[in-house]
Order: sequence, then C-alpha cells, then structure tokens
Amino acid sequence: MPIHHFFTRGVVFSHRDFVKSLDDVERHFEPGHYTAYLYTGRGPSSGSMHIGHVIPFLLTKYLQDALGLPLVIQITDDEKFLFRDVPFEGQKAEEVISNNIKDIIAFGFNPRTTFIFRNTDYMGEMYKTILPLQRCMTGSSVKNTFGLTDSDNIGKFAFPATQAAPCFSSAFARVLNHSKERPMRCIIPCAIDQDPFFVLTRSAAPRMKRLPPALLHTKFLPALKGLTHKMSSSAEQNGVITLHDTDRQVQKKLRKAFSGGSGTLEEMRTSGANLDVDVAFQFLRFFCPDEALFAHVAQAYGTGGMNSGEVKDLAAETVIKYVMTEWRARREKVTDEDVEHFTSIRNILI
Ligand code: TYM
Repeated sequence: MPIHHFFTRGVVFSHRDFVKSLDDVERHFEPGHYTAYLYTGRGPSSGSMHIGHVIPFLLTKYLQDALGLPLVIQITDDEKFLFRDVPFEGQKAEEVISNNIKDIIAFGFNPRTTFIFRNTDYMGEMYKTILPLQRCMTGSSVKNTFGLTDSDNIGKFAFPATQAAPCFSSAFARVLNHSKERPMRCIIPCAIDQDPFFVLTRSAAPRMKRLPPALLHTKFLPALKGLTHKMSSSAEQNGVITLHDTDRQVQKKLRKAFSGGSGTLEEMRTSGANLDVDVAFQFLRFFCPDEALFAHVAQAYGTGGMNSGEVKDLAAETVIKYVMTEWRARREKVTDEDVEHFTSIRNILI
C-alpha cells in the first residue's frame, strides 16, 4: 500500500514511539495474535462532525488497512457533559450520539475488527483500568496540564483517566482478549490537541508496569477564516465545513476562505500568492491525494499563474471528491443495526 500523503506533506508531523510500535506490529507471537491495536475517539458535542475531525479518522482508516490492526473508538459523551454541559441522556442526546457513531462508521472501518464504545455504557468494563490510572494522576498534574482551577467540577479532574484507560488492553478484556502475559501496544492517531491526555498516560504507564501508548499527531485543519483560527465546532463563526454540507455550501464557504493572494488580479499575477497562509491551498495540502496536481498548483499559484478564485474552486472540488462523495454513499447505507453491531461487546480479534 503506498504511503499516505498525510505523511509526505507534513500533516502527520510528530509522533511518540511510533517506530517502536511498528516493530511491535511486526513481532508476532503466533498467527492470529495481535501485538498492537489502534485507538482513537470523538467527543460528540454537535450533530455533525466538521472536516477537521475527519483527518484523524482518515488516518486511522489508512492505518487499519495498511497494518491490519484491530481498532477501538471511544465516544466521550461524559467529557462533553462535564466540560460543555452537553446532555448525555434523553432523546436528543441519543440522536446526536447515534448520528456521530454513524458518521464514524461511514469512514469504512472494518466491521469485524472495530469496536466503538460510549463511555457512559462501557464504564463498568473499563473501571478496573481507570482506578490505577486515577491513583497515578495527581490533582496538580491534571490541573496544570488542562488549566483547571479549584472551582472546576471534580468530573473534569477525573476524566483524563477515562480517556487514558483505552490505552491499555486491560480495558478490553472481552474485546481484545486481554492477557497480562501478552500485552498489546496501543497506537493512537489524533490531532495535536489530544496530546496532553496521553502525556499523562505515558507517565503513568511505567508505574503501572504497562507499555506506554504510541502516538501519531496530525496538524489542525485551519478554519476558513485563516490559519490563526482552528476549525472547531464551538467556533462556528471562524468558518466550518461540516460533513453534511451540500456541494453548493462547500463551494460557497470556500469562496469566502482567507486568501494568500495579494490585492488585485494584476498584483496576484506578478507577485503570486502566499501559500503558507492561503486556506484553500492548505485544504489541498490536507485533502488532495494527487501529487502531480498538488505540485502544479503550488508552482502556478505561488508564481501568479493561477488566481485565488480558481484555487478556492479546486479546493471545494477536492473536498467534495475525496472527503465527501464516497463517505456520503456509505453514510446513506449505515443503519441502526450497524450501530448495534459496532458497539456490541464482542471479541474483535476473531
Ligand atoms: P473531538 O471530538 O474534539 O475531535 C475528534 C478528533 O478530531 C481531531 N480534531 C481535528 N483534527 C484536525 N483538524 C481540526 N481542526 C480538528 N479538530 C479536532 C481531534 O484531535 C480528535 O482526534 N477528547 C476527544 C475524544 C477522544 C479521543 C481519544 C480523540 C477520546 N479518546 C483518543 C483521539 C484519540 C475529543 O473530544 O475529540
């Protein structure tokens, strides 16, 4: 399988122990026994994921296919309740969470080897892994890492141990067939904002005599408003494209994106665009897998041979073609039964 452009274009820009984890993947105890698994997650705070959220999921899907690993996906309905006051109960909450899970399934994860779990449902299975983690994390380390204050609710102080627990296969006694003698290395694809959770986890791991999780960090997809803004659903005003936008909406939103092209058409022709700050060009960096096309735009736009309107339209086409078209086709087919299957507690190694 060819290397993903996320690796060659600096979208994946740092890691912790990823090389070690690849050695683990290659080291088989016996056929059918896995030495590593993938772990990623989502905090279901709004009805629809934006296309920034898509990046770690696309990376995870690539790694699942390339490395043939089992995958666990944590849905942190508890986190959103504690940090953002988003309800975890009631019909509306059920709908939001179920739709988020359907959106995730539609990335095409392997139904046999993928387990999706919602914290408020799966807590009992993880609790024996959470307890030693809670004992290893001090109030002051959590407070300093996440900028909490004494007036924050105590759930916020406890939550990091809940996001840490899936880093250890003991949290999946029935799902990963955990045994103490054969620990599995956890590999986490995520954007850089999630790293603080795993810094705490990695420092707890040796004290718990466990393998520390490995991480692959992606950059943040910028908001349409510009690179100094992050694309985030709690900052809609900065410009967000959601997975459920229509082609027309994607096009319209991208046309308003912050441009690195200077002033008039004439000026753009002579001085070219500043690609580093141009949002549409950055979208091509993230989403256009066609190396020749990407190189052509970099050259032409950077030297005035293309204007920002053309690049914005190309970025919209790219998002529609490579992020949305196949995803939409799969999403239409995802049923409540699929959600039931992906979330059922079962051995995903057989
Ligand atoms: P959440 O729902 O905020 O984000 C889901 C995933 O999307 C990444 N992300 C982005 N990536 C690129 N560009 C952006 N603009 C952007 N915005 C968000 C996040 O880094 C994340 O990978 N606490 C987590 C849920 C979680 C989790 C995990 C995530 C639980 N366990 C393990 C990753 C790995 C959260 O609220 O994610």
